[in-house]
Amino acid sequence: MAQTDSLRSHLLDELADTLDAERQLTKALPKMARAASAPRLKQAFQTHLKETRRQIERLQKAMRLLGERPKSKTCEGMEGLLEEGDEMMNAASAGALRDAVMIASAQKVEHYEIASYGTARTFAQVLGELGVARLLEQTLKEEKAADVKLTNIAEASVNERAAEQWSSEGMGEDGSSLFEQSGEWLNAAAKRATKTAKQAAKTARRATTGARRVARTMGVGASRSRARKGTTRKSATRKSRTRKSRKR
Ligand SMILES: [Fe+2]
Repeated sequence: MAQTDSLRSHLLDELADTLDAERQLTKALPKMARAASAPRLKQAFQTHLKETRRQIERLQKAMRLLGERPKSKTCEGMEGLLEEGDEMMNAASAGALRDAVMIASAQKVEHYEIASYGTARTFAQVLGELGVARLLEQTLKEEKAADVKLTNIAEASVNERAAEQWSSEGMGEDGSSLFEQSGEWLNAAAKRATKTAKQAAKTARRATTGARRVARTMGVGASRSRARKGTTRKSATRKSRTRKSRKR
């Protein structure tokens, strides 16, 4: 059935993308754990590294359940998020401030993963692949729990200590004021945001093409284009009537 085949290929595509995203994360998390100063945050990154390794195994198992050999494709979204997180981490002074910045970056990653796993789980449910859906649901719960844990760590102490550090530092190591440093930081962040927006637009274009393909196989595109043609014909008739009445 064309409709099922198409959704199935989207599911496999999503799994391949997420597999690469998780592999990228296994390289980033040890570095984040080393850079963290709050023991709870360090521990959270280390725990999530272990979870991520199990999540990779689940993704591979899900692909095998779908009768495919596990494979991955470059996840540009995760590349962008990790690159941005790395730059922010290196720009922040060590201590609570860097911890706060890393929590923000890690939560962006978690939200990206929640979206990926939520989509893939729903695709699997629609296709009746309940074993695959269960595996993805398990990981989805872990990602949501990791996000909540990061919020708790931030709210319990890190944000407050980061604010204290920010106000007590006064001058940067190179003699520049924090005001100057924050200006530079914001400029760098703006450049990164532009880059990320471009990547997001590229991803959105790809998603739209995919969604159109699914809609076409489901017959939604056909009825919409028929409706559009009908509207165009109506407006053309209206225009020609207006032209005729003007001539009169
Ligand atoms: Fe993950």
